[in-house]
Amino acid sequence: MQDYHEFLDKIIISESVLQQRIAELGKEISRDYQDHNLHLICVLRGGVLFLADLMRQISVNHTIDFMAISSYGVGERQSTGQVRITLDLQEDIHDRDVLLVEDIVDSGFTIASVLEFLSTRHPRSLRVCALLDKVERREIAVPIHYRGFAIPNKFVFGFGLDIDEYYRNLPFIGAVNLDHYHPT
Ligand code: IMP
Ligand code: MG
Repeated sequence: MQDYHEFLDKIIISESVLQQRIAELGKEISRDYQDHNLHLICVLRGGVLFLADLMRQISVNHTIDFMAISSYGVGERQSTGQVRITLDLQEDIHDRDVLLVEDIVDSGFTIASVLEFLSTRHPRSLRVCALLDKVERREIAVPIHYRGFAIPNKFVFGFGLDIDEYYRNLPFIGAVNLDHYHPT
């Protein structure tokens, strides 16, 4: 397994900038969801670090749940537009104020499918909080109510985001130099 320094092009969002923005998002969400039945749903696996830090910045009472999906055509760095639910929610979301917590919106296909899936279960409200938004890559319009950062069209890793399942633990968001990355 390569040391990430070998293929890190540059750190595009540092740990302190990430944490500062997450604190702002937490405040905004806390303000908007006073007197609501806030239920955060995290899409595994990329969203876990964001969820863990975000929820510590949310001051209103809330609950959490997890789901996992896989894109058809796994292993690629692009999604195909169709997703399969591989882990369903533990709890019913009927009548709850659901906030979907996502790591990154790229083409938008993943979020669009997840939103469609969740809306069939009739939550009271349904919104999206995405840490990163690769605006230029969007192929399907999706509503992002809370957005951490707009980022350029580069493959990024760290803070939950993987390259072939590794490097999720890094506390910053880095861009990859694919010429220097060698899959094992
Ligand atoms: P979309 O369906 O194209 O919006 O893809 C979203 C999913 O692709 C995310 O949840 C990530 O798992 C993955 N993804 C997209 N861009 C990146 C990236 O730059 N680094 C790591 N994973 C990414
Ligand atoms: Mg991935």
